[in-house]
Amino acid sequence: MASGQLSRAEALACSGCRHACHVMLYADTKAQLFGRIPIKHIILMQMRFDGLLGFPGGLVNPSEETLESGLSRELSEELGLALPISVEDHVDSCYAPPSSPSSSSRLITHFYVKKMDEEQIREVERAAASTAADHGLEVLGMVRVPLYTMKGGGGLASFLSHSFIGNARSQLVHSMLRLNLVAPGELHTALTHSLKTHAHT
Ligand code: APR
Ligand code: MG
Ligand code: MG
Repeated sequence: MASGQLSRAEALACSGCRHACHVMLYADTKAQLFGRIPIKHIILMQMRFDGLLGFPGGLVNPSEETLESGLSRELSEELGLALPISVEDHVDSCYAPPSSPSSSSRLITHFYVKKMDEEQIREVERAAASTAADHGLEVLGMVRVPLYTMKGGGGLASFLSHSFIGNARSQLVHSMLRLNLVAPGELHTALTHSLKTHAHT
């Protein structure tokens, strides 16, 4: 287990910790940009109220709900439909960087990944833009991650040079590698290019 990470059980044993759960929803696709650039996979992220990119999800209260039912509740608010999330979808749990030096209680972020069909992703996008209670408030819109690299470097590198909440950027990068959604060499090039163009926290 990498440093900063803790098991689900250790995380739940922390009294006084706050917990947040977020999920990466993704699907395979045969679609091609401009009829020639294969998109290969769809990964959903969101533009948050604070102008940062992040994954759907939010704060859960383990004394009143399981982590997974709390995440499903957050998803119904943010995406407008009830998506069942199970323990098998859990990837890792880790301490979030303190939001300010004076912040009193530590936050543990639990990360989940769920594979769907392309049509289910479309359904999520439709609901998020219409029936979701948080649409236009906590969530400004869902976005798909461009996983390709265009001549001149546009695509993934440009996406990665935006600003992300907490460790959402590294959750995205590690998931793309672990699930083989982008070739390691291409990801490395995109990361190097994005670091050259923008400073990151
Ligand atoms: N990595 C680390 N921390 C994250 C990540 C991430 N990938 N994504 C979100 N967070 C942090 C956020 O900074 C926030 O403090 O987790 C916490 C909860 O996540 P949100 O999705 O923002 O929570 P949500 O329950 O949807 O929103 C509730 O959060 O910021 C407040 O006042 C705001 O009403 C809002 C409240
Ligand atoms: Mg929320
Ligand atoms: Mg949220």
